[in-house]
Amino acid sequence: MPRDALVYSSAVDPAGPWVAALQAELPDLDIRVAAPDGTVAGDPAEVRYVLGWSPPAGFFARFPNLALVINLGAGVDALVARRDLPAVPVTRLSDPQMARMMAAYVLFAVLRHARDIPQFEIAQRARRWAHVHPRQPEEIRVAILGLGELGGCAAGELVRQGFDVRGWSRTPRSLPGVACAHGLDTLDGVLAEADILVAMLPLTAETRGLLDAARLARLPRGAAFINVARGAVVDEPALVAALRSGQIGAATLDVVAQEPLPQDSPLWDMPGVLITPHLASMAIPRSAAAQIAENIRRIRAGAAVLNAVNLARGY
Ligand code: NAP
Ligand code: GLV
Repeated sequence: MPRDALVYSSAVDPAGPWVAALQAELPDLDIRVAAPDGTVAGDPAEVRYVLGWSPPAGFFARFPNLALVINLGAGVDALVARRDLPAVPVTRLSDPQMARMMAAYVLFAVLRHARDIPQFEIAQRARRWAHVHPRQPEEIRVAILGLGELGGCAAGELVRQGFDVRGWSRTPRSLPGVACAHGLDTLDGVLAEADILVAMLPLTAETRGLLDAARLARLPRGAAFINVARGAVVDEPALVAALRSGQIGAATLDVVAQEPLPQDSPLWDMPGVLITPHLASMAIPRSAAAQIAENIRRIRAGAAVLNAVNLARGY
């Protein structure tokens, strides 16, 4: 077999654990780590695979024999939007450990709101002993927008905790204990009954700005909002206005429209708003390396890859 190489490119995930995990799966694979400016040592003609998260513009064109692009994560919006994406299969990570990590974050965020923690944080700063009688999970309606690999797993976790869980997707889905709805014409009804709204949608042409002022106004007054999807799924100025007016009572935001969140964003100082820097779930080398290796074996054998992204659909 001719020599083949994989190039790793990410400014977020350290390369060392990925190189070690992939080398353990495929000892014969030549793994090269791209410098931050995209420079890669060795003969570019030998590079057949890119494993990357937001490689620099023009990166792919350096490799004339590219056969596979592996997105170093679940969400492919940044890749799909690129003008320089080569005409080769694109895959995403599909990892139960990654889904578990996300479900843990969503559970934390839902519990934060369900147990009124933002109110206690505000009260503590004012040295106020503010008793709020706890609600039972069955009394709290949690709506999850997006019931895919991550949303489906998070929904199951919330069902186990006893919440009244509702879910929304593009096509029909059925999940134990979850009241599922699908399609745009059901969205307003889902929003109207969401005490806690969790965004777990991919960012696509259809979901960009989906949660605009009118849709946020459908939520019950004082509802909580959790975004672990992408910032652009929500109209951020409308979100700020809804937080200011009390239409949204509190929020947990792992993603925002511009990352890092600009210094002058009003979101930094809003009471009841928790911001985390886009880490609800991360790609995990030890658990994800096997599926990457499997797809490389498939490319070598001329077989179809697993976890291929539907580029036309955008996710
Ligand atoms: P997925 O498996 O592709 O599932 C996407 C879900 O969204 C599916 O249920 C899909 O409906 C639904 N959906 C897509 N377009 C829709 C539309 N127009 N209307 C209604 N529902 C729609 O994605 P995933 O793996 O669960 O990941 C979801 C997103 O999480 C990623 O795309 C990424 O942006 C984000 N993410 C964030 C982090 C973080 O750390 N914050 C980490 C990983 C991922 P169908 O079921 O009908 O296809
Ligand atoms: C992270 O945001 C991912 O999409 O994997």
